[in-house]
Amino acid sequence: MCGIVGINSKNEFYVRDAIKRLKRLEYRGYDSFGYAYGSSLYKKTGHIVVPSSDDKTKRIIAHSRWATHGGVTDANAHPHVYENVTLVHNGIIENYQELKDLYLRKGHKFLGETDSEVAAHYFAEKLKEKDMINACSDFIHDIKGEFAILVLVKGDQNIYALRRDSPLVLGVGTDMNFLGSDIYAFSDATNMAIFFENDEFAVVGNDSFQFYDKHGKKISKEVQTFRWEQEESMLQNYDHYMIKEIMEQPKVVKRLLFSLDTEQKEKFHEFTAEMKKAKKIIFVGAGTSYHASLLGVYYLHRCGKAAQTIIASEFEHFIDVDEDSLVIALSQSGETMDVIEALKYAKARGARIASIVNVPYSTVQRMSVISLNILAGQEVCVAATKSFTNQVALMLALAKEFGYKVNMESLPQQIQSVLERSGSVKDMAMGLKDNEHLYVLGRGLSYPVAREIALKIKEISYIHAEGMMGGELKHGTIALIEKGTPVIGLVSGKDNAMLSNLKEVGARGANVITISNEAAGDIRLETSNDGKFGILASIIGQLLAYHIANAKGLPIDKPRNLAKSVTVK
Ligand code: G6P
Repeated sequence: MCGIVGINSKNEFYVRDAIKRLKRLEYRGYDSFGYAYGSSLYKKTGHIVVPSSDDKTKRIIAHSRWATHGGVTDANAHPHVYENVTLVHNGIIENYQELKDLYLRKGHKFLGETDSEVAAHYFAEKLKEKDMINACSDFIHDIKGEFAILVLVKGDQNIYALRRDSPLVLGVGTDMNFLGSDIYAFSDATNMAIFFENDEFAVVGNDSFQFYDKHGKKISKEVQTFRWEQEESMLQNYDHYMIKEIMEQPKVVKRLLFSLDTEQKEKFHEFTAEMKKAKKIIFVGAGTSYHASLLGVYYLHRCGKAAQTIIASEFEHFIDVDEDSLVIALSQSGETMDVIEALKYAKARGARIASIVNVPYSTVQRMSVISLNILAGQEVCVAATKSFTNQVALMLALAKEFGYKVNMESLPQQIQSVLERSGSVKDMAMGLKDNEHLYVLGRGLSYPVAREIALKIKEISYIHAEGMMGGELKHGTIALIEKGTPVIGLVSGKDNAMLSNLKEVGARGANVITISNEAAGDIRLETSNDGKFGILASIIGQLLAYHIANAKGLPIDKPRNLAKSVTVK
């Protein structure tokens, strides 16, 4: 988590324009923010405020924080300054306490409680004996933990950038270079980028740069040209990114499906061939991406192709992988630390790595032998919506290659019809918004959907919601059902077992809301295909979470304590 931005330019630019770039990364963390340029330092708790002044500079580093070590205070916000060194950091320095004790013994004063502040002291100490190139390679050698760090040194015209496990990319512009946690920081200004690999660092000037390996040896790296759908990263006339991104779903699904017949066609066939060849298919993902992978497993299972999925953070505890395994990571950001760790674990055991990501050239994509893009465009709202739909659409398209019957062409139009029912979902939201607890029940295909709907409701609407298997209800949760407890039931086809579960909670006074296609229900979805039922029902859930949160006046795009890209364990 945390977003970092650096710019080094031949010509002056407005500080406010640089901070707008930081704002593009705010979804990575939004407890506090700060920036440093020339002799100015600004750091504050709260959401990023773009300054109104006409201040200009040629060089700046900036940071948006998601607190790990040390509370949310102005002092703990970045940049951290010590003597002639100013820096911003994303990651966790695991051996910070030991270094801090050493510097305290030397008489250093610390202003906050973060691990990151120690890095400023580290460089200041090193610079007493050596130059920055050697200080950087020492840092990589001495520091335990993860870092994407940008360092300014007084009197030096460069920005020093170092990476291990936290994402960092250099954007190559005209007469200026950008550094960012991801390409969003500069994707409107250049589509040329160089991605830092682990234990690499770079000296970035205003029109040149040099990369180094951990020993301080110069290395040359390829400039990548990336494609990005820039037009979608503005709020336009919507009140929130979440609703804008929900409404974009017909368009982004269409774009994905088109790409599978055109630019991604070859890769799509290679991907399917990898799946056919593999003796074991194991998906891995976190949060919403995990739910999409569960749907994938269901679809594949329906057509006789065995697959499993494991939550990324528990991967190594619950699964054996070997040379016969194809591990497929699902990740919107491609930067989730737990997913990356799971892939490293799998790779070390000889598994082949494949992935399905939204952000091109992300770490997960770069670790894969083959990777597909879901082409959802930038998703700004912390809660995943359109990226989930495109992940699931891609899962359906893959399952179709194994014999799953589904008409994909009509999917964008069916999503559009669901979105047109936003008004009636809003009415339903008004009836639910004051509840403290809510349950969503599903079976088979609708079980992952139940979990996804509950997750959306929790993270956006702050209602405790549990998404669970209808069959498990009687093993405990039914004890919590009282008169009026809302229970959303997902009934795909003639799922009599699910209908019985809903009767059981209804008999105990629950306020049952049924989302169905064939059976009678409060919301009837127009599809007879269970795969598409999964997508359409989850979109109803997205709208429901949005309308509840909106009615409660909650910070929809940036819910408390969350971040979109979870780059710590
Ligand atoms: C965070 C985000 C979720 C996302 C999850 C996995 O928790 O808030 O929206 O589903 O990370 O992220 P990934 O980028 O790997 O899909």
